[in-house]
Amino acid sequence: MSTETTQSDAGLLALPFETRELRTERLRLRPLTKSDLEHRSENYQKRTDVVRYLRWEAHDHDEPAKNLEKRIALERLTHDGDGLIFAVELCATDGSDDHRVIGDVSISVKSARDAQVEIGWVFHPAVHGRGYATEATTALLGIAFGELGAHRVYAELDAANEASARLCDILGMTREALLRERDHIDGEWHDVAIFGLLDSEFEAAAKA
Ligand SMILES: CC(C)(COP(=O)(O)OP(=O)(O)OC[C@H]1O[C@@H](n2cnc3c(N)ncnc32)[C@H](O)[C@@H]1OP(=O)(O)O)[C@@H](O)C(=O)NCCC(=O)NCCS
Repeated sequence: MSTETTQSDAGLLALPFETRELRTERLRLRPLTKSDLEHRSENYQKRTDVVRYLRWEAHDHDEPAKNLEKRIALERLTHDGDGLIFAVELCATDGSDDHRVIGDVSISVKSARDAQVEIGWVFHPAVHGRGYATEATTALLGIAFGELGAHRVYAELDAANEASARLCDILGMTREALLRERDHIDGEWHDVAIFGLLDSEFEAAAKA
């Protein structure tokens, strides 16, 4: 029996979506692998300034590792809850690749039936302020609204995460909701902000 997802299983999204390398002007986005984990963890994922607003990575130690390994093993988006992580590498100006991982971005299926997709990001502080996060997440939006056929793409952030809120603004996302004290982390309640972008808004911005 075929395990391929049928159109009706996939709802409004064009699933399955196979992971692959994506190129932008200055970046290469490739599937994150197990061998990236040590580097990722040493270089940015354990820095307190980086993980301050990463809810599960920062504050829970076993569950995130398991989650991450499961997501790394995934090669395609098929069902609700499936997510892919891309390592972001700098492309050298001479055309050869640097292979330095400067961050990672993720895309996951929240609801295939309703064509709802979530994106996320983390970048090394040494490369902040150069537009790399904007460039990588713009590529993700292209995939989400293009090949995947998302109707709405959203991001959930700690409401105090101003740098991520600014990135959402740059991407043309609207602040849709503030979920008061939704997360309890290390004894403190945190508000969560939700930013979203609709396919019509993405298309209108692309034409403008
Ligand atoms: C959120 C995060 C990715 C934002 O990083 P960032 O460096 O601000 O984002 P970018 O790389 O896109 O840079 C954008 C800035 O670079 C500027 N910039 C400089 N050169 C640029 C270029 N060539 N192209 C585009 N923008 C450029 C932009 O104007 C913008 O600055 P501004 O906000 O003053 O206008 C980063 O703070 C981060 O990784 N934080 C830790 C992890 C985290 O919190 N993740 C989110 C969990 S929800």
